[in-house]
Amino acid sequence: MKHRKLWLTMTVLALMTAAASARYYSLNPQVFMTQQRLTYMANLTPLLLHITGGTVALTTGPFQFLTGLRGRRPILHRWLGRVYLLGALAAGVGGLLIARIAFGGPVARIGFAVLALEMLAATAVALGSILRRRIPAHREWMTRSYALVFVAVTFRLFLIPTFLGAPFAPVYAADAWLSTIVNLLVAEVLIRRARRPRSSGARPLTGGAETAPAARRTLGSPSSAG
Ligand code: HEM
Repeated sequence: MKHRKLWLTMTVLALMTAAASARYYSLNPQVFMTQQRLTYMANLTPLLLHITGGTVALTTGPFQFLTGLRGRRPILHRWLGRVYLLGALAAGVGGLLIARIAFGGPVARIGFAVLALEMLAATAVALGSILRRRIPAHREWMTRSYALVFVAVTFRLFLIPTFLGAPFAPVYAADAWLSTIVNLLVAEVLIRRARRPRSSGARPLTGGAETAPAARRTLGSPSSAG
């Protein structure tokens, strides 16, 4: 039950962030991030590539962690996985392109670029793992990949103090690093918990310690990317 609540909270926050990001498709600078209006208007293509990929990865990711869905609909899991991979690639490449013009100076810019590279690397390792039939490693790297995509949510939550009077620029720059560190730590906790043998019927968010043969039964063809 505990994990179901965690999954639901994560999914609702992800969908809310994706919905809020959709305002950029209006191409109306009035709804853009105030400090970056002119910059974004001059860099619409990488920005929209980033937002589109980010929206796809953010909204498909949660469903990949549902053990029931993986078991009952392995083909859907594989297709959603391919869509997630494309979304993550576009979000990461677009993120790298706009990191150099981000608000918050070099601290924020380097922080965003590091985040984009980490997310692309984690996603690539997750893909490599499933191609080599390493199911537990695939699941763990997808957890890290999604934790990094989910920085889009944590980053915005950590900006809340600026609405209560905290200075925007330093909080924004620190947030580019802090939200990544916090999400990676949470991912490691979930991964380590999932490695422990289960003592009850509760199913961990990351899917539990499935064995490779059992997982192969649920994932179908082992050569397919998840
Ligand atoms: C690896 C993950 C991500 C990286 C590295 C990243 C990087 C960036 C960077 C560098 C910017 C420019 C910020 C600035 O101008 O100061 C940005 C803006 C933006 N990103 Fe991402 N991002 C990531 C994930 C996502 C996701 C998953 C979404 C979901 C839709 C998203 C939506 C946006 C939006 C809407 C903006 C425009 C600024 C705003 O209105 O908040 N990003 N991102």
